[in-house]
Amino acid sequence: MIKFIVAKNYDELSKKAAGIIKSVVVLNNDAVLGLATGSSPIGTYKELINAYKNNEVSFKNCISVNLDEYKGLDGENDQSYRYFMNDNLFNHIDIDKNNTFVPNGLNDATEECKAYDNLIDSFGGVDLQLLGLGLNGHIGFNEPADSFSMGTQEVALTESTIEANKRFFEKVEDVPKFAYTMGIGTIMTAKKVVLIASGAAKSSIVKQAFFGAVTPNVPASILQMHPDTTVILDEESATEILELI
Ligand code: GLP
Repeated sequence: MIKFIVAKNYDELSKKAAGIIKSVVVLNNDAVLGLATGSSPIGTYKELINAYKNNEVSFKNCISVNLDEYKGLDGENDQSYRYFMNDNLFNHIDIDKNNTFVPNGLNDATEECKAYDNLIDSFGGVDLQLLGLGLNGHIGFNEPADSFSMGTQEVALTESTIEANKRFFEKVEDVPKFAYTMGIGTIMTAKKVVLIASGAAKSSIVKQAFFGAVTPNVPASILQMHPDTTVILDEESATEILELI
């Protein structure tokens, strides 16, 4: 069953999400954190940086595995998800960078995806997975499909995702067309999932994903079957489900 938290605004949403992550790390110093990119988690990461600076939490023994990476971008490229994570979180906390993992977008797809799954297995899976929500219901880069993906795989990004992500690039043509993403099967084995979504544009997909049918056409809908998922919304993204929760 999904637990819903409706925060007043993005700041409060970020504080709630960071609070859950902090509590997991405080209870389990060497937690394996599954992390996400996109604009949604930026505030959460800011809160975690503040908490670290205020000595409320240390990430020294944590391991992180990110959800996804664009194919063809190397970690030095400022549009890569590796760069995003360094810039928005890892450079500002005490996590050992050698213990932070993002798929390598330059490696061969088959080899990289297999290696990434083996890596996650070797850590005993993910303790807490943070997720954003794509406008079409994607999680990680698991786009709507005929079946739920299992492990890490190469995916072709949909037009809607390319369109949504073009804001980070100079031109739409610069947005990579392929990515490597952790699979839905792996996300579902995370002990705890925290999904954050803010803004009016997400209100309709929030309703579809969490109150509609469980279907690979809306990948996030599978979380209805996860034993410990918390969805944190702000008032704008929650408008269509307020009466249902
Ligand atoms: C990208 C990422 C997802 C993210 C989604 C939503 O496609 N691969 O992990 O959840 O965008 O992004 P935003 O939080 O910017 O709306």
